Amino acid sequence: MTGIQELLLSRIRDVADYPEPGVMFKDITPLLADPAAFTALTDTLSEIATNTGATKVVGLEARGFILGAPVALRAGLGFIPVRKAGKLPGATLRQAYDLEYGSAEIEVHAEDLAAGDRVLIVDDVLATGGTAEAAIHLIQRAGAEVSGLAVLMELGFLQGRARLTPALDGAPLEALLTV
Ligand code: PRP
Ligand code: MG
Repeated sequence: MTGIQELLLSRIRDVADYPEPGVMFKDITPLLADPAAFTALTDTLSEIATNTGATKVVGLEARGFILGAPVALRAGLGFIPVRKAGKLPGATLRQAYDLEYGSAEIEVHAEDLAAGDRVLIVDDVLATGGTAEAAIHLIQRAGAEVSGLAVLMELGFLQGRARLTPALDGAPLEALLTV
């Protein structure tokens, strides 16, 4: 494990039985509160944006906003929010995805993405991959291309990586930590 990985891991707090019994929640608030760790994370993700030739950064509501916005600025790129449905005022594209119980929808402003854009998607956690898969489809439906998906943490046992392989179509999935 690299020094940066050790630093990041040391600032993620395990919270047992949250939000429900049997779940180990990965709390990133200690990392956000530590400027050295947050800077290291931002710098590492912005290098991925640059290396994948991204022209824009998409952050996934809500925690992907916190991580993605500084990455976009650090890389000199625009930031595009993908929001939970009903929050964006303009013309949107909407994509449904399945949750453990039921389903949800995310949206992006249609005018924010276009053909020729290469988009790095940023989020905190890759779990089942449902959220990221919906975001990939949204970006592709807008005519843009996904340059990559970058997450702080991948929960390997949930097999999200395998689920995303077809949608990513060769674009890299970079997880700074796998737990
Ligand atoms: C969490 C996490 C990821 C997503 C991963 O978001 O931040 O976005 O779940 O799960 P998946 O890979 O199974 O889709 P959530 O919507 O629960 O909360 P948030 O609004 O705090 O980001
Ligand atoms: Mg989230």
